Amino acid sequence: ARTAAVIPAAGRGVRLGPGAPKALRALNGTPMLIHAVRAMAASRAVSLVIVVAPPDGVAEVKSLLDAHALPERTDFLVVPGGDTRQESVKLGLDALPPDYEIVLVHDAARPLVPVDTVDAVIEAVREGAPAVVPALPLADTVKEVAPAGTPGEPEPVVATPERARLRAVQTPQGFDRATLMRAHETVADDVTDDASMVEQLGERVVVVPGHEEAFKVTRPLDLVLAEAVLARRRL
Ligand code: CTP
Ligand code: MG
Repeated sequence: ARTAAVIPAAGRGVRLGPGAPKALRALNGTPMLIHAVRAMAASRAVSLVIVVAPPDGVAEVKSLLDAHALPERTDFLVVPGGDTRQESVKLGLDALPPDYEIVLVHDAARPLVPVDTVDAVIEAVREGAPAVVPALPLADTVKEVAPAGTPGEPEPVVATPERARLRAVQTPQGFDRATLMRAHETVADDVTDDASMVEQLGERVVVVPGHEEAFKVTRPLDLVLAEAVLARRRL
């Protein structure tokens, strides 16, 4: 079965602060998006990468892909994204040619995911899981809170889920194509990852080990960490 990767990269990166769209910001001189594209194309199983660009940034993304060395064996498509991550992923899926049976969805904001993690996700889909997520145990205890009675007052804690049973979920998430398509056609609520849409269909979602370096670049401190990881890799 052929494998394609959809990379949603159309977000603005509000939490990172003012500047270019997050995926176009440089990490050690190379745009975050290019690192993310290379991370997907590093897998020999991935023969197509679909980048979902900021709506006004399609031409810029195309020229970035042309300007950077990428594996010859991989094809690239660029499409404009939407207002939410979910819409952007859907627009990427709409561009998927018929002959791909396995689809990865990978955040441009996770530029440093190692190829072994990518391959482990693909392998689990090949072995029959309709949806696969890489995930890690949590370091922090997590609490569920309720809205504060009055704005500005402290939020009351409602519950503390048992930490050992929780996982922090990363990307690439891997899917049987038909399952992911059905999820995007039938689940309307805004969700923060693709696997949760498959869960809403009642389909089985399984976890494989994630990787610390697959963290999401979200806030300014994450840029410091990402550049340090790249420096350690000498990139
Ligand atoms: N994304 C997208 N289209 C959107 C929103 C997000 O393609 N309308 C992508 C982002 O580019 C990113 C991934 O979804 O690669 C994960 O989203 P997130 O980390 O939240 O990025 P942003 O939405 O850009 O950041 P923020 O929420 O801080 O604005
Ligand atoms: Mg966002």
